[in-house]
Amino acid sequence: MSADAPRKKLKPATQLVHGGTLRSPFGEMSEALFLTQSFAYPTMEAAEARFKGDDPGFIYSRFSNPTVAMFEQRMCLLEGAEAARATASGMAAVTASLLAQVKAGDHVVAARALFGSCLYVVEDLLPRLGVASTLVDGADLSRWKAAVRPETKLFFLESPTNPGLDVYDLKAIADIAHNAGAKLVVDNVFATPMLQKPFEFGADVVVYSATKHIDGQGRCLGGVILASQALIEESIHNFLRQTGPAMSPFNAWVMLKGLETLPLRVAQQASSAARIADFLAEQKGVTRVLYPFRKDHPQEELARRQMLGGGTLVSFYVEDKAAAFRLANALQVIKISNNLGDAKSLITHPATTTHQRLSPEARATLGITEGMLRLSVGLEDVDDLVDDLAAGLAAVGRG
Ligand SMILES: Cc1ncc(COP(=O)(O)O)c(C=O)c1O
Repeated sequence: MSADAPRKKLKPATQLVHGGTLRSPFGEMSEALFLTQSFAYPTMEAAEARFKGDDPGFIYSRFSNPTVAMFEQRMCLLEGAEAARATASGMAAVTASLLAQVKAGDHVVAARALFGSCLYVVEDLLPRLGVASTLVDGADLSRWKAAVRPETKLFFLESPTNPGLDVYDLKAIADIAHNAGAKLVVDNVFATPMLQKPFEFGADVVVYSATKHIDGQGRCLGGVILASQALIEESIHNFLRQTGPAMSPFNAWVMLKGLETLPLRVAQQASSAARIADFLAEQKGVTRVLYPFRKDHPQEELARRQMLGGGTLVSFYVEDKAAAFRLANALQVIKISNNLGDAKSLITHPATTTHQRLSPEARATLGITEGMLRLSVGLEDVDDLVDDLAAGLAAVGRG
């Protein structure tokens, strides 16, 4: 295998097409898919050297594979990280990034507005393993400070959040974590790697569900953990190697292809999302629109400071559950699905799907009412999406 020779510092769009490429002796242009579990050694001595780390070659695809390595390297270049490890799903990335860094007796502080499965890991799983956790209102810096204990090891948050699209001050929260001797883990899924760079604001670990914008065409599950070389080597690498939530080489190959078009897709989807947010805000049946770059978003100033675009998701409120269901059921182009980041526009009703298991009080704290809808804006012509939503709103009116 040969790596493309390092050249002068290249811009992100170029890195996303060429970065991390390893070529086999065949000189293939498209990245090769190494769908293999293990690797053969020419001699026993070679096997010994590989296991001792004297020869950096591949050993077993649970922890290293050339196609997966290309994906990890390309993600490092995109994120400005020293090291990355790919995982089977976004949840594998979140779970490993937290579990690998704590032991019984430690304490984790997390923003309450978390994706449901992340909430399970923080609220249920960690305490069962003897790791205490505290959930705070992520927008209130005093809550993060007040939650700190001598044994606090990690802070964890998503920003923007799902589905409320709250924006948290990454720099201020990273400073509080570091003053407490803790590390900040950021789930950057909603922002996308194109629109927010958490390491620039002090994050120690960035995690993604690659299932979302990185694939971008609704095909494969995947995740990735990015951090310093030291942090990956000290805790993450061994945890993943021994517990085994590895990314399939096939999925890594799909993700590599996804990365090539990520900047184009995210730019188009974010531009359509901004236009749709403005359209929705003018409609009679819509009581409120949430979009981080709109003037009426409570953290618009922070969002503009921290993000390069408002993102590809828009949340909005109609009168009640009946209105939300009538609207979504009338859509022809936009599909009903709880996924996001796809080329296809997807709408979901958080109260009855992604956040169904929360108590009504917990949903209310997160602003998830029966009339809330979350729209993941895709790559369709924005005029068709606006027309589709207009037809959906008309159906609400017809009761
Ligand atoms: C913010 C966030 N984090 C993590 C995940 C989990 O990702 P996956 O479905 O790839 O496990 C999701 C999935 O929706 C998500 O929205």
